[in-house]
Amino acid sequence: MKKVITYGTYDLFHQGHYNLLKRAKDLGDYLIVGVTTDNFDLERGKMNTCNNVMERIEAVKATGLADQIVIEEYCGQKIDDIQKYGVDIFAIGSDWEGYFDYLNEFCQVVYLPRTQGISSTQLRQERPTVNIGIIGTGSIAFRFVPESKNVNSAVISAAYNPDMGENMVFCEKYQIPVVANDLDELYANCNAVYIASPHYTHYDYVKSALLAGKHVLCETPFVFSMAQAEELYQIAEEKKLVLMVALKTAYTPAFGHLFSLLKSRIIGDVVEVNASVTTLTDESSEKLDCKHFGGSMSENACFPLLPIFKFLGADYRNINFYSKMKNGVDIFTKAVFRFDHAVASFQVGLGVKTEGCMTVAGTKGYVYVPAPWWKTDYFEVRYEDQNLNKKYFYPFVEEGLRYEIKDFVAAILSEGYHHQISKIENLKMAEVQECYINGINVYRL
Ligand code: CTP
Repeated sequence: MKKVITYGTYDLFHQGHYNLLKRAKDLGDYLIVGVTTDNFDLERGKMNTCNNVMERIEAVKATGLADQIVIEEYCGQKIDDIQKYGVDIFAIGSDWEGYFDYLNEFCQVVYLPRTQGISSTQLRQERPTVNIGIIGTGSIAFRFVPESKNVNSAVISAAYNPDMGENMVFCEKYQIPVVANDLDELYANCNAVYIASPHYTHYDYVKSALLAGKHVLCETPFVFSMAQAEELYQIAEEKKLVLMVALKTAYTPAFGHLFSLLKSRIIGDVVEVNASVTTLTDESSEKLDCKHFGGSMSENACFPLLPIFKFLGADYRNINFYSKMKNGVDIFTKAVFRFDHAVASFQVGLGVKTEGCMTVAGTKGYVYVPAPWWKTDYFEVRYEDQNLNKKYFYPFVEEGLRYEIKDFVAAILSEGYHHQISKIENLKMAEVQECYINGINVYRL
């Protein structure tokens, strides 16, 4: 029996895929089809697939051409599969001509003609797009636009900055079609808004965008009071709009996996979370300006608040803050949370440097995430018996903003989207900021 194997993503299954499977099947008696997993696609930078792995497998199955379907999970698996299944022919479309010649050592390699005029990329481009208008064109917006290009269906359609000169420079650099003179012009040219303006302007811009019927992705910190956060969520819910906070760590592959592992009780009960985010900052920076809500808490606290609330829940009993002040702002703050069955703490700083790692302690072991933990692709689970220790790697590509943009677009375009940061977690983050601003349990060093 002659065995043939072929591989693909098979996203938005189309005639080109069918023709290729048919041609591959005709080469032998038994066809094995390898379908890439979502994780493997992510790892090789293909993060814009529309169908998940189960849907893609179902589409291949529905052709009736595959005698066996395997999932492709890692680089180098093709050789393993060829040997494992005793494959005679490896077949692939002619767009890969030459690329897989190295497999000739293991079986015959055949490049099959590709069907002209159709591809998953083309079909994805024909799907509805989310036109994003940007409010605020500071440094984070400069990082956001190139990252958005990796996300299927995301189009940056307009930008607004009260400083017209800055806005023009920004729009010119990224070829953004509409250089909006005011918010009305911005809203007329988008169906979603990314708010990357200074912290203290977030509430007004989010409210204005929601009232204009736009989905919102707001940079961190979201807002500085629980009441404001509640009001904004209420507007979003009434108008059936997506309201998301752009806390990039929450959307990264490593953080998502760490969350699932902890919920699977890999270290037993979680008893303590500690995380640090400190960035030594120039004294002239707006980040240290008290008139602009500057300081370590407002700049950095949302990062460690994320794992604390994710791993322990948002229902803390109390918090004490210990701050080192300079020119009216905290250049360093340590916060300690008491939960019913756990404790958490974080260190944030703009004028004090610490190790930027995170540890999560449990009754069976602990997790160590090295600095910078908030954009890590790696963590370790450690036990008393070191032989049981395990290292986990997950890709984190470039700036990592693409993950949150992808989720924002998915939340708008697909029903039943599961939010990585819940409403209650965002409300509680605002509450922590509010407690701090009101000086509740704040001790100055
Ligand atoms: N294929 C083909 N003809 C097409 C499109 C794809 O023969 N018009 C073949 C590819 O050469 C490959 C298989 O189908 O052997 C699976 O390809 P895949 O990458 O999943 O499909 P594409 O449509 O090429 O996807 P993309 O646009 O994301 O690259």
